[in-house]
Amino acid sequence: MPERKWKNWVNNNMRLILEAKNINIKKRGREILSVEHFGLREGEIVAVIGPNGAGKSTLLQVLALLQQPATGQVLFHGQVAGKNNALEYRRRMAVVFQEALLLNTTVFNNVAQGLKLRGADKKLISGRVGLWLERLGVSHLAGRMPSFLSGGEAQRVNIARAMALEPEVLFLDEPFTALDYPTRISLLKEMGGILKESRTTVFFVTHDYNEIPYLTDDTVVMAGGGVRHRGSASQLFAGGFEEVFKSYYQSSY
Ligand SMILES: Nc1ncnc2c1ncn2[C@@H]1O[C@H](COP(=O)(O)OP(=O)(O)OP(=O)(O)O)[C@@H](O)[C@H]1O
Ligand SMILES: [Mg+2]
Repeated sequence: MPERKWKNWVNNNMRLILEAKNINIKKRGREILSVEHFGLREGEIVAVIGPNGAGKSTLLQVLALLQQPATGQVLFHGQVAGKNNALEYRRRMAVVFQEALLLNTTVFNNVAQGLKLRGADKKLISGRVGLWLERLGVSHLAGRMPSFLSGGEAQRVNIARAMALEPEVLFLDEPFTALDYPTRISLLKEMGGILKESRTTVFFVTHDYNEIPYLTDDTVVMAGGGVRHRGSASQLFAGGFEEVFKSYYQSSY
């Protein structure tokens, strides 16, 4: 467990950056997500846990405006996201998935790609890419092709690519799961520092509750397509993992 104790510097007066209201998603006649209300405040880092199929990735995709719910609304800075503004809002967010899906070009170009698409000039791109490769400890790999990277290196590049966009909201969908234990811990420690310092708002999905304290204490438990609990991870786990989850796991099947 990390030694750092998170100061909860996000207070309730801070503005909501993302809000989901009355969201409902059905697939093949089955309800897979039903969330009455979920909010993320500016600068907040929220960990999201729950069993397989709980709806974690689906909620992430709805909030990141990658999947449109059948009913309900997502608000970004208080504005309802719709066809007219979804692309603009999506460009102010970034998503990191478990698999680092890198393009078949150099590490530098991979990290630069999103900025190029946003029309950034060359000077800004090279400065930003250099900074984030450095911060993720992969500057020496700038000229390398993705097929010559280890899993840990590729995921560092993947995260640098997201952070180079300096997103207002960063979505992480189990990005550390495929990494070996020492690589996972060192990257988690570094990310804890980077995210706090950059004050990025983060929605962090993980299977492994041991990862949570490296990034935050604020935890959401999902099961059966719904948000079942939100609170402090340390309090949540004080009574033991199995006890806490017994009812949630049962309710999801
Ligand atoms: N395109 C789809 N068609 C049918 N069912 C789907 C589809 N996408 C997701 N589901 C179902 O929705 C439920 C929620 O899926 P989701 O991927 O959000 O879960 P999760 O909590 O992220 O799970 P995991 O921990 O395995 O990643 C699952 O039961 C899944 O099978
Ligand atoms: Mg998932």
